Amino acid sequence: MSDSYIQNLFAERIGGRQYGKSTAIYKFEKIKRAKRAALTANPGAEIIDMGVGEPDEMAFPETVAKLHEEALKPENRGYSDNGDDVLKQAAARYLDRVCGVPGINPETEVLHSIGSKAALSILPAALINPGDYVLMTTPGYPVFGTHSKYYGGLVHNLPLTEAGNFLPDLDSIPAEVISKAKVLVINYPNNPTGASASPEFFAKVVEFAMRHRIVVIHDAAYAALVFEGKPASFLATPGAKEVGIELHSTSKSFNMTGWRCGFVAGNSLLVKAYGDVKDNTDSGQFLAIQHAAAYCFDHPEITQKIAAKYSRRMDGLVKVLCGAGFKARKPRGSFFLYVAAPKAAVTKKGRIEFKNAEEVSQWLITEKLISTVPWDDACANLRFSVTFAAKNPADEQRVLGEIASRLGDVKFEF
Ligand SMILES: Cc1ncc(COP(=O)(O)O)c(C=O)c1O
Repeated sequence: MSDSYIQNLFAERIGGRQYGKSTAIYKFEKIKRAKRAALTANPGAEIIDMGVGEPDEMAFPETVAKLHEEALKPENRGYSDNGDDVLKQAAARYLDRVCGVPGINPETEVLHSIGSKAALSILPAALINPGDYVLMTTPGYPVFGTHSKYYGGLVHNLPLTEAGNFLPDLDSIPAEVISKAKVLVINYPNNPTGASASPEFFAKVVEFAMRHRIVVIHDAAYAALVFEGKPASFLATPGAKEVGIELHSTSKSFNMTGWRCGFVAGNSLLVKAYGDVKDNTDSGQFLAIQHAAAYCFDHPEITQKIAAKYSRRMDGLVKVLCGAGFKARKPRGSFFLYVAAPKAAVTKKGRIEFKNAEEVSQWLITEKLISTVPWDDACANLRFSVTFAAKNPADEQRVLGEIASRLGDVKFEF
């Protein structure tokens, strides 16, 4: 059958006439297929899914009750555009009380987002011209870079390695890149490495941004999920508001991934530009959802309970993986445990060598029915997420025991 004429109309940025014709299978699709194949080969068996990047539980009952109450109000029914004051004020209070950032002006320095992903896809329109460089960490969450490329921007990747504490080496950037760089995107606690940033690193970022006249976007999607101490906000760094913005989200901190709500805060000029493009992109999140999100930002004890659960699971997982020979160290926050991938595994069936983390991940699903996410971008690593399905602490222990027993007959070589 000949192609529809529509095939010839696609923009080059998504592949032009070749759009949809690539036979390459991407990482997450390979994982899905391997999971399906493992289930077919082992009917009724339990796949332990440590690959999921979202909470295993729903929002707390009080959040759902708040949504219900707000959804009943006729005044919340319409387009919310760039939002009312409720979430803005709650965000400013949250930054002050929870993140130690006083003095955020809710009128000019905060605006809601329909999730951080949406904000990261909108912001390049406000900043990127063809030929501009964006500095992105790799491995990482690619959305800002993808949209920058749509606008003709270029991405310079900064590798995150264990030797560098999973922080980007800002001194490694070639002068010709820096001279054309407009934006640095960072994310701590980090997906996928689980690493946290120190105040000293944030101070270095502010100094770097001021010296090179670069905008900083700190994606703080996991900022509140800390196992001890306060969430580390980039905005708490002296000078941060002169160079950048921070993105917060209810998705992970309040088990609200499907609700799509967060906020952008910081430099008022950047917040205004974000708002102008956003206004031409969407018509705002449903006010009832914004108000339920505001309720959450005023109840950080919800996040503390969620973080305590992840912390407990993390302790268990670190023990199990160390027992299996991995060098696992508990991160200070997030729900990701990032470990170096083994080079080989010896079992009763023999010895198998792995070329990269992807091969390890495929082997773990096929042979052990344990799903992980492989990253081969900067080094070969596996990401285990403690958002695996478990009904209660006793069930968590059962799942962790099951992992230990499945890995019990394997000798990994690193
Ligand atoms: C680093 C990072 N940023 C942003 C997001 C998206 O967050 P939201 O649900 O607020 O769009 C994710 C989700 O996985 C993430 O890992």
